Amino acid sequence: MSTPRASVAVAFAFAASAHAAALGRDLPHTPLGKPLTAASVPTLWPDGRGLPAGQGSVTDGRRLYADRCQSCHGELGTGGSGGHLAGRSALAGPHPDRTVGNYWPYATTVFDYIRRAMPPQAPWSLTADETYALTAYVLHLGGVLPADAVLDARSLPAVRMPNREGFVPSPEARDAGAR
Ligand code: HEC
Repeated sequence: MSTPRASVAVAFAFAASAHAAALGRDLPHTPLGKPLTAASVPTLWPDGRGLPAGQGSVTDGRRLYADRCQSCHGELGTGGSGGHLAGRSALAGPHPDRTVGNYWPYATTVFDYIRRAMPPQAPWSLTADETYALTAYVLHLGGVLPADAVLDARSLPAVRMPNREGFVPSPEARDAGAR
């Protein structure tokens, strides 16, 4: 019998496959009722393993951003319904404000997040080149990259995020390591 919850899941599955078909690509997705494989859950590592070929510049990213991101994240990433991506106050201080540039520890995670989640109505719709360009632009807005930066599978993992050392293992993880 089909419960409402199952119907919703099936509707999502159909929507996802229609979206994949519309793009003409076999998008990574989690197959219903089958074991997960490396191909269905592609992983990007901080050292760059798993990054696709391609490249994109801050300049290309600026153009793409105006087209596909600005409506929700505002001009220069300063906010809208999707929240701000840059600017505002610093991480240190009485009212810390987390943005991509001052908080995220790895640049590869920014690429991974944008590719799999943005824009929210069309995940996985960006090409590798577009994702490199948008990652470069978002990092430029956050003060991490200069205006002439170009990212690819070699330069992206080499980007040193300012808050990289700002994370400490949770007490549980520390205890587990001590055992
Ligand atoms: C329809 C609105 C919308 C559009 C268009 C959109 N976003 Fe987003 N974005 C969101 C929302 C909502 C969130 C917060 C999601 C959450 O916290 O679960 C978000 C979160 C993000 C984040 C994470 C911010 C953080 O620090 O947590 C990044 C990076 C991002 N978006 C980049 C982009 C890029 C690049 C584009 C253009 C390809 C884009 N977004 C287009 C709505 C949008």
